[in-house]
Formats: sequence, C-alpha cells, structure tokens
Amino acid sequence: MRCVVANWKMNLASGEAKSFCEDLLVHMGPEPESEVGIAPPYTLLHLVSSLVRTKGLRVFGQNGHAEAKGAFTGEISMPQLRDAGCSGVILGHSERRQFFGETDAALAKKIKAAWQWDLLPLLCIGESLAQRDADQTLAVLGQQLSILAETGPGPLWVAYEPVWAIGTGRRAEAAQVLEAHAFIRAELNRLLPETGSQVPILYGGSVTPESFPELLGIPEVAGGLVGGASLDPGKFAELVKQAG
Ligand code: 13P
Repeated sequence: MRCVVANWKMNLASGEAKSFCEDLLVHMGPEPESEVGIAPPYTLLHLVSSLVRTKGLRVFGQNGHAEAKGAFTGEISMPQLRDAGCSGVILGHSERRQFFGETDAALAKKIKAAWQWDLLPLLCIGESLAQRDADQTLAVLGQQLSILAETGPGPLWVAYEPVWAIGTGRRAEAAQVLEAHAFIRAELNRLLPETGSQVPILYGGSVTPESFPELLGIPEVAGGLVGGASLDPGKFAELVKQAG
C-alpha cells in the first residue's frame, strides 16, 4: 500500500483550503488506490474533513497532546482532533522537535494517546545535517525509533525526513534514502516483531512530481510526506497519481 500525505504546516486560510480540496478532487479523478491524507492547520480541520473524508481521504492533525483535556493553553488533544474529523496525527515532526522542544519521551506518550482515541500516528524521524556529517544518521534514527519498545505495537506509519532536505529543495540521494529506509525497516522488525514489517515508511523532504517516481522505486519507500509541493492542488494530485 502506498501513502501520500500533504503537510500544509502553518499555511492556507479557509478560502484557499476550500478551493484546494475542490481542485484536488477534480484533478485526482476517481478514488485513488493509494492512501491519501491532508494535514491542515487546526482551524481548517473541520472544513477539510467535511470536503474530503467522504472521498476516502484521511485527515491528519499536525500534532496532538498526550492528555485528553486540561490546562494546556495553545495545545490540542487527541479527542479534539478526532472530533474535528481526523483519522490520524503527525507526531514528532522535526519542526516540532527543533522549535517546540518535542522529546522522545513525550512522543511515546502521544503515540499511546493517539491509539486510545483511534488515531493513526504518523511518526516522523530524521537526522540534522550536523548529525549526518558526523556519521550519526543511523544512530539518531535508532534512538528516535527506540520509543516503540515502550509503546509496543499498534497502527503506525513512519516518515523518514532528513532535516536538511526539508524545505531546501535538496532531496536526499537515492543511496541515502535506500540506506535509511532499510535500517528503519530492520529496526521496526526488531522492535515490533509481530507488526513491524507492515508499517509503511514514507520519505519526506523536498518531494516534487519530478523526484517522486524515482523515490517510489527505492525499496522500502511506501510513499511521501510532502510540504511545499502539497500546497498546489495540481502538484499534489500528480503525486497521488504517481503513487498509483
Ligand atoms: P518540504 O516538502 O517542503 O521539503 O517539507 C517536507 C516536510 O516537512 C513534510 O512534513
């Protein structure tokens, strides 16, 4: 199964989101074979979900708190995401780790909370440029995945997003993607012996319709988590078509 997810980050307002969804559904044609998701900002969740969920698309939150409710100003909970029409939640995006102090310990709790509320976690992992240059890529990925020993098995997608490839136009090379995805698969198999082989591993970082076909040809690449190119409905529809 292939998966393509649009991460809109902190972009678009309601008018743009509405026309995006209408354009996307026209460009995409009949229901795609692959799993397609959109992760809009929180204020657009209801709107996007009302427009695309009947077409079989998933809606993801971009983050979610481990607690179901309480005094956490500015946060959003898993049941609130569920209520707004989400069926999944992106967790551990490098921008959350880098700018908002997201820790592995918090992520283990968030994954369990997502499961409790029947949301599919899309766990993002990836190394910084300094870590790659210091030959620490696999160690970093191993560390970020090690929380799965604590969470145990459950519905899960993983996205490998090298931080240096995000929003830079500098996509990881095929050999780098191959090595990282093979390592992630081996770790998933080791940490989750019953289910690890079934977890789709998406690639993210400057994915475009020009680069996606090559990426999809790399073993263990099950699809893409897309930022910049996902803000254009034509480009995103093209990525969905390429995924098949
Ligand atoms: P870009 O596709 O803009 O590089 O962003 C990738 C990303 O962070 C998706 O989560």
